Amino acid sequence: MTTSLAAPRRSRGLRRDALIATGLIALALVPAAAGALRIGEIAADAPTTEANARFMEMPLPVVVHIVAALVYSLIGAFQFLPGLRSRRIGWHRFAGRALLVPAGVAVALSGLWMTAFYDVPPIDGLALQLSRFAVGILMLLFLVLGVRAVLRRDIGAHRGWMIRAYALAMGAGTQVLTSAPFAIAFGAPDEFWRLVQMDAGWLINIVVAEMIIRRGRHRRVVGVA
Ligand code: HEM
Repeated sequence: MTTSLAAPRRSRGLRRDALIATGLIALALVPAAAGALRIGEIAADAPTTEANARFMEMPLPVVVHIVAALVYSLIGAFQFLPGLRSRRIGWHRFAGRALLVPAGVAVALSGLWMTAFYDVPPIDGLALQLSRFAVGILMLLFLVLGVRAVLRRDIGAHRGWMIRAYALAMGAGTQVLTSAPFAIAFGAPDEFWRLVQMDAGWLINIVVAEMIIRRGRHRRVVGVA
């Protein structure tokens, strides 16, 4: 009886894992591709223009940012698959310790560094800079709290903080969705609408993350896997 129930449960779990991984990787795809193009441009020593001057003159922070973001967003997606996590807990621990926490810290620190020191276009006004500072600092804080929770063996809290950190970072993906349709319909935004589109990406992710964290808590309380 147990065996006949185990097979459909396993296949439901695999389907759920595949769905989560596809969604998260799809979200990361556009910023990842933009990052690969930017690294290609820097590696090829492309001509400096007004749009790329800050990256060409000071490439290290953006290269660190993009490489770390690729690792964090793409490998990080697999940390959130319940089936994979329960079958391969050794991989989950190794990837978290050796790859994802260092990559997450590098994404946030390099993002903060660029916010502070890059000569960004005028459309990225003071309010957007403040949002970037807030996002970078919160992401670092959530990673630290996530590590602290797992060291205390508080897996529920660890899950929550790591989902929050990942959601903030993946604002880069949601911002494609909150800005591209408007750019196609109305052209480049002004400073105000640029801020609205960027902040909307982070806010949507924060709300979705809190919903996922609550649902997970509820499922554990009522005893659903
Ligand atoms: C996994 C998540 C992230 C991805 C995939 C990502 C991706 C990118 C990419 C591809 C660029 C280069 C843009 C270009 O070439 O024009 C970039 C720049 C930048 N990112 Fe991120 N990023 C992520 C997270 C963050 C976070 C959390 C912050 C918060 C501080 C941040 C702040 C910045 C800043 C300030 C720049 C420079 C913007 C400019 O000078 O125009 N990023 N990011």
